[in-house]
Amino acid sequence: MKIRVLGAAAGGGYPQWNCNHPNSRRARQHDSAAQPRTQSSIAVSADNEHWVLFNASPDLRQQINDNDILQPQKDLRHSPIQAVVLTNADVDHIAGLLNLRESQPFCLYGTQRVLDVLSANPVFNVLNPQFVTRGAIRLDEPVALKRPDGTATGIVIEPFAVPGKVALWLEDASKGPNFGSVQEDTIALDVRDSHGVTQFFYIPGCAAVPPELSERLSNAPLVFFDGTLWRDDEMIISKVGVKTGKRMGHMSVSGEDGTLAAFEALAIKRKVFIHINTTNPILLDDSPERAIIAEAGWEVAWDGMEVSV
Ligand code: MLT
Ligand code: MN
Repeated sequence: MKIRVLGAAAGGGYPQWNCNHPNSRRARQHDSAAQPRTQSSIAVSADNEHWVLFNASPDLRQQINDNDILQPQKDLRHSPIQAVVLTNADVDHIAGLLNLRESQPFCLYGTQRVLDVLSANPVFNVLNPQFVTRGAIRLDEPVALKRPDGTATGIVIEPFAVPGKVALWLEDASKGPNFGSVQEDTIALDVRDSHGVTQFFYIPGCAAVPPELSERLSNAPLVFFDGTLWRDDEMIISKVGVKTGKRMGHMSVSGEDGTLAAFEALAIKRKVFIHINTTNPILLDDSPERAIIAEAGWEVAWDGMEVSV
């Protein structure tokens, strides 16, 4: 199985359009230690020919142009993109669907909760229902992903709920401190081959690592994990925002209850941060924070990164 990172940044990308934080400035100045990154998404293939997108970022058009594996290979209309799996309804994970208009067949998968969000918004009807099938995936039920002609992609996913939050733009303050979030709002994917053997986990958004998640991830061959913020109050101390990571549904990389600590004893072979916010110092190749995560055995995903499992 091949994994191509299409985008490694969090919502807004790196540099984010309105951000003048030193991190963002360095990226704009073409500093070689501050490589820009588009919004988070990966492409996965079992045969190197047919690809499944995990999330569809608003940068998808650029991502297709940057990755020839996703470009038309034959006929006048063609796409290697056979399916899209959504892990939540955040703007950075669904807005790219609008790039996939124009009567091109593919299979769209998401929890019923996320599919309902799409159905409630008629702009997503640009995905012509005659060509794009929408399939509900259920928590803790493995599903063999299909190509639009009904054949198997060779990729099996088991979706499971992780701590998280309803999409920012769907928050309902009248529903209490969790804004009406339900389990199906934030899922992780256990990605398996056609024999059902786990190849990797995809978890671009996660608010905490409870014991059942640690148990599940222990000894995994590869995990892509939420790297949104270095510290919970990062946006506040950087003076670019008022929200903590916890408020946004993201655990932080550092700290006692952070990701480095939570993963320390899990014996995961390869650990890669993805969905990284424009303020996070781990984006910089020369930062002390990057050295700390490298020492702890972590990598930072970059656009174009390819991993074979
Ligand atoms: C998130 O990951 O918290 C969201 O993508 C934030 C946003 O929608 O900007
Ligand atoms: Mn996001």
